[in-house]
Amino acid sequence: MPPADAHPARQPAARGLDRDPSTAASTGTVLLTGAAGAVGTFLRRGLPALGWHLRCLDLVRPARDDGLEWVTADITRPAELAAAMAEASAVVHLAGIPGETGFDRLLHTNIDGTYRVFEAAVRAGVRRFVYASSNHAVGRHRAGAPLDGAAPVRPDSLYGVSKAFGEALGAYVADRFGMAVAGIRIGSCCERPTRLRHLATWLSPGDTVRLVHAMLTAPGLTYATVNGVSANTRGWWELDSARAMGYQPQDDAEEYAQELLAGFGGPLAADDPDAMYAGGRMAVPDPAVPGGEPSGGCAAPQA
Ligand SMILES: NC(=O)c1ccc[n+]([C@@H]2O[C@H](COP(=O)([O-])OP(=O)(O)OC[C@H]3O[C@@H](n4cnc5c(N)ncnc54)[C@H](O)[C@@H]3O)[C@@H](O)[C@H]2O)c1
Repeated sequence: MPPADAHPARQPAARGLDRDPSTAASTGTVLLTGAAGAVGTFLRRGLPALGWHLRCLDLVRPARDDGLEWVTADITRPAELAAAMAEASAVVHLAGIPGETGFDRLLHTNIDGTYRVFEAAVRAGVRRFVYASSNHAVGRHRAGAPLDGAAPVRPDSLYGVSKAFGEALGAYVADRFGMAVAGIRIGSCCERPTRLRHLATWLSPGDTVRLVHAMLTAPGLTYATVNGVSANTRGWWELDSARAMGYQPQDDAEEYAQELLAGFGGPLAADDPDAMYAGGRMAVPDPAVPGGEPSGGCAAPQA
């Protein structure tokens, strides 16, 4: 990270979304890291239609690139990142390991990699940064009670700790370098809900696009964390702060409730970790599942 007082983002000539956030949607180039992944695929489907020019970055390139600009790069390599940042006005940072694993892997990709992405963004004068945090950064809070989007971190896993690091770094970069930073504590970003927990935590593909778009355009953003869930009838994740920033969720996991309840033979037992903790079963490591489950946990569980 360069010294704060030498930072290009503080110079008046820096291009950026905050010159006129209300018109930014049709003008910005957005560097989308982790673009080949699950969340990235939803955003590639939806953000271009809202006027964003995406530069997609990932270790791998999907077979179908839909005519979008692609950069094959590693977020842990500063030179590759510096080239990818050219002319970007915003970054949506998704690249990472999306679930519990050994600390060394998390350190390399989620902690060092996220640091490198913020560092390259600072150096390039990027004005706005949307960071894919996770419900697992606050996963040890109790489930069911309203959980504020700005609730103190209470990670349920080393993965959650790595996501909390990115939030802290985002706050630092916002304060020291004047970049607008939004951290989204993503719930379960899946094509459709596949577990009972998702009745509260689901973030639909369409709402993912709407939420990221809102974070890219919200006027007056300095630093914020918001919850990333749909308007789920059974949800207890606070959405007022995201709504105040322009998020208008349109989906509700309730549409799938009867089907899920029938499939699982009724609601979650009160002592089921998915009913006890905000982070669900990741908050209670199961020795039978080494490494835990991916953060979204979208794959339908085996019977
Ligand atoms: N899917 C969810 O429900 C969910 C929930 C909470 C948080 N998140 C967060 O959202 C982000 C995206 O999650 P996802 O479900 O799409 O995961 P994913 O594994 O499907 O996608 C992650 C992408 O990052 C890429 N990547 C990994 N290391 C990289 C590196 N060194 N350089 C460049 N690219 C690299 C991978 O190739 C992959 O395409 C993650 O940061 C995850 O922690 C997701």
